[in-house]
Amino acid sequence: MKRPNDPIIEIKNLKTYLGGSWVHKDVNLTVNRGEILGIVGGSGSGKTTLLREMLCLTPVASGSIRIFNEEVVNASRKVLLSVQRRWGVLFQQNALFSSLTLLENVAFPLKEHTELDATSINDLALLKILMAGLSADAAVKYPSELSGGMQKRAGLARAIVLDPELIFLDEPTAGLDPNTAAEFDELILNLQSTMGLTIVMITHDLDSLWRVTNRVAFLGEGKVLCVDPMSKLVKNPNPMIQAFFSGPRGRVAEESYQHGGQDHGN
Ligand SMILES: Nc1ncnc2c1ncn2[C@@H]1O[C@H](COP(=O)(O)OP(=O)(O)O)[C@@H](O)[C@H]1O
Ligand SMILES: [Mg+2]
Repeated sequence: MKRPNDPIIEIKNLKTYLGGSWVHKDVNLTVNRGEILGIVGGSGSGKTTLLREMLCLTPVASGSIRIFNEEVVNASRKVLLSVQRRWGVLFQQNALFSSLTLLENVAFPLKEHTELDATSINDLALLKILMAGLSADAAVKYPSELSGGMQKRAGLARAIVLDPELIFLDEPTAGLDPNTAAEFDELILNLQSTMGLTIVMITHDLDSLWRVTNRVAFLGEGKVLCVDPMSKLVKNPNPMIQAFFSGPRGRVAEESYQHGGQDHGN
């Protein structure tokens, strides 16, 4: 029987060699079902690479990545197709097709992965566009006609179109102004609770980390140095962690969270 906090991802002793050096020396990480896990670390610490490995887009040197209880390292095409069907991704650059409308972009995974007829595909894609906080009017627009915040919402609509259990977000609020970023965080929290999602989110946005994550993994020196809720992580004495969170920005984010931000438990 599955318990609510069964691990949905288990990474063990992961090593990665890229561009002549070891990006990951020994990464160990567990993501529990239903949680929002943040991944932080300095630029070049291997966050995006780790994400790409979980998605089976970058090969690993050694180690194990189990997702939905399936080994995805060197998995067969059949296993990959079955797990890919169960997760959604919002890439850092949105990766929307510029020649397709918003509706066609969001409908794309349904065409690839289901046998549904065109009307059902359109209805489902439109539903997800609305769930992502975009209007039906926006559905006929092309990505270049959408603002940065709307493009992120479009990417998120596409990430949830197959009703995934798990979604991966790479820097979802990067480049957005603070208000748009806060609205996007609110959307992530809403979707997480309405769809029962597990979310893995790479971000260096401290406000986002305080607002949405249950736990945060800090990547450094080729390892996960620490996994804790933000309130505990910021007190970690490790100099790399201190350097990342200290300074004016870190303090402003922490204070605004404590004086008005929400706490959604563990
Ligand atoms: N395809 C690649 N070929 C060679 N080196 C790569 C490749 N992808 C990433 N790297 C290197 O791996 C390291 C980690 O990159 P990345 O995962 O993008 O870091 P982050 O997302 O934490 O900023 C960097 O030093 C980067 O140059
Ligand atoms: Mg990156």
